[in-house]
Amino acid sequence: MEKDLIKKAIEAMSGSYSPYSNLKVGACLLTKSGKYFKGANVENVSYSLSSCAERNAIYPAVNSGEKDFVALAVISSDPNTFCIPCGACLQVMSEFSKDMKIIACKSQNEYKIYTIKELLPNLFCL
Ligand code: THU
Repeated sequence: MEKDLIKKAIEAMSGSYSPYSNLKVGACLLTKSGKYFKGANVENVSYSLSSCAERNAIYPAVNSGEKDFVALAVISSDPNTFCIPCGACLQVMSEFSKDMKIIACKSQNEYKIYTIKELLPNLFCL
């Protein structure tokens, strides 16, 4: 399962629009119904409008009626770093699937698996 998801996250990087950071980020989400949703980061000249790969994978899934997630793999074009989702993306994931796995990748074969709670132990909730 991990290997397949990582391969798809690597494929997703090709959709990145990142002329400002020059960092491509690709994500792939697996839903409990077995569907895959890919996303890549999209930047904007007004930097704060940039959108992360993870949320670009998650929102179309939710719009398709998929709200139960098994895992999300994320990888960037920096070969030296395990790509960890930002706090905002972790908060968005927690809205839907608190028990999902996050596969933070450096390459196809180098990755670490986390829970949301490990990465964002004090997330906001009502
Ligand atoms: N980025 C992501 O796509 N996901 C993250 O979790 C962190 C950062 C993107 C945003 C921006 O396009 C680039 O990486 C540099 O910050």
